[in-house]
Amino acid sequence: MIKYIKKYYNFLGKKIIVLLIIMQTGALIEGFGISLILPIIQNEELEDNRLLQTINWLFDLINLDQSLLNLLIVLILFFVLRAIILIFQSWFQAAIISSNLIYMRKNLIDSLILSDYKFINSLNRGTLSNVLNNEIERVNFALDQLLAFIVSLSTALVYLLIAFVISPVVTIFLVIFAIPIAIIMIKLNKITTKSSQDLTKGSNKQQNFILEIIENIKYLKSTGQYLSISKKINIEIKKVGKAFRKLKFVQSSSTFLFEPFIVIIMASLIYYFTEIRKSNIIEILFLLFIFRQAAINIVATQAPYRKFISSVGSMEIYFKLLDSLYSHSENENLNGDEPNFDSVLKLRNVSYKYDNNIALDNISIEIKPKTTIAFVGPSGSGKSTTANILSSLLKPDKGEFSLDDKSINEINLSKYREKIGYVTQETVVFNASVEENISLWSKKINYKKLDKIIDETGLSKLFKNNKNINDAGNNLSGGERQRLSLARELYRDSEILIMDEATSSVDSILESQIEKIISNEKNMKTIILIAHRLSTIKSADVIYVFDNGKIVEYGNFDELIKNNGLFTNLAKKQNFN
Ligand SMILES: Nc1ncnc2c1ncn2[C@@H]1O[C@H](COP(=O)(O)OP(=O)(O)OP(=O)(O)O)[C@@H](O)[C@H]1O
Ligand SMILES: [Mg+2]
Repeated sequence: MIKYIKKYYNFLGKKIIVLLIIMQTGALIEGFGISLILPIIQNEELEDNRLLQTINWLFDLINLDQSLLNLLIVLILFFVLRAIILIFQSWFQAAIISSNLIYMRKNLIDSLILSDYKFINSLNRGTLSNVLNNEIERVNFALDQLLAFIVSLSTALVYLLIAFVISPVVTIFLVIFAIPIAIIMIKLNKITTKSSQDLTKGSNKQQNFILEIIENIKYLKSTGQYLSISKKINIEIKKVGKAFRKLKFVQSSSTFLFEPFIVIIMASLIYYFTEIRKSNIIEILFLLFIFRQAAINIVATQAPYRKFISSVGSMEIYFKLLDSLYSHSENENLNGDEPNFDSVLKLRNVSYKYDNNIALDNISIEIKPKTTIAFVGPSGSGKSTTANILSSLLKPDKGEFSLDDKSINEINLSKYREKIGYVTQETVVFNASVEENISLWSKKINYKKLDKIIDETGLSKLFKNNKNINDAGNNLSGGERQRLSLARELYRDSEILIMDEATSSVDSILESQIEKIISNEKNMKTIILIAHRLSTIKSADVIYVFDNGKIVEYGNFDELIKNNGLFTNLAKKQNFN
């Protein structure tokens, strides 16, 4: 518990201390207000009551006469003050809880975006989405419960203090009371922690399946393959339900367990004070009342405490993810050198591995500024991986990537990336209008340029229909998604434009139009083309042929065609002569 309090303290800082002070003050005022009942009763036999003596001493201190009227006024004042404090406390607690949720979510998203791409890639998407949407709410709920726990505990402590002042013997009863509670608590806590972890694990898996189904729903529906996957997900949903049921039951049943203990202790107290101590009946009643208040508050700590630990699984996964994102945060080298785009880009003896799978094996490439180069080769040969390295998304495991003979590690990555245009192999479409998709919500839009690009990429019809793109482009055709991704990069001012299969889904009329656009951009910026259709890359200055993570040939189109190698083979299959 302390471990997580520390984590929350890191987030909330002094605010939580202020809240604790407010809570404690509220509890003290309640305790003191109730203690005023003793002088109000004004029973002569109570004279040697220690609590009464303390109150007398306090009234003497402020020089106030203990008339009934004065006592009642003080009593009212105390409870009015308590009400004000409680209202303020509720407001402050609500503010803390809501700002905590905002902060946690923002923090997680920011650290996700700022962490290393290789690490992001290794994360499980279902888990990520589950943590961001569900677990984070439970972590915040846990904080709320933790605060409720502290309120009850501090109120209980105040009553215990009063009970102690009246009669230290009561302390012994309380210790006896505490032992069985502690034993039950430890047992229940274990069950709760375990079910909480099961619940989180199950939720992650469940979220994964749900994402998978949503993403592949077209295929699953059209081919009737939903049944086999739905069996798998049903098992997971049931498991989550079972863990949830267990958690809920332990949570709610535990409160009732303590009631018999309270009654037993109360009965013993009555017996002890009436038969053995022969105390005054008013004193006994008052003591019982105080004891009951203490016991109720101790029992009241249980529900929030259990709810708190029932979120242990969520806290574990949230804080673990956050820590690992922090430790994989990428250094964008903001104090690094400005990139010089009028210089040569070089990959020297670069190798790259995904887990144990070698994707690039000792490749070297030199790209002169403002030239057009192309990567071709079979599927899985390492073209996209090379593009990812050139865009600085991935760092070579071995070898060096340099610009202007400076290692990329010395360059300000943020400035470098601002000038990278990247039409990735996966189309990038946002839930927004065509215009917003291209301008990325920019405030200053160059309409002349925008209109020209919309026209050239064949998006005019979509634009005129004012089409709102939804669900990552589910209401677009494959070619339309690709044109939109391309239009965005043409609109941005880039120095290096990477196009990974940018025209694979567009028709040949549009393809030749896009080739024209590319040839317009030629000599204005460095262009890197990746394509399976060789016609697209015919005009490239240098073509690199990839095979199995290696570069097996390079040269211009005409040179390669004559080489009688892999490229000649590819060209023959596509009917080039
Ligand atoms: N995120 C990843 N995690 C693990 N392995 C990957 C990942 N991305 C690619 N690979 C592997 O790395 C190798 C090179 O992949 P890459 O995407 O660079 O190929 P490619 O030449 O672009 O292929 P394609 O023409 O099919 O797009 C492949 O064996 C692939 O399985
Ligand atoms: Mg690829």
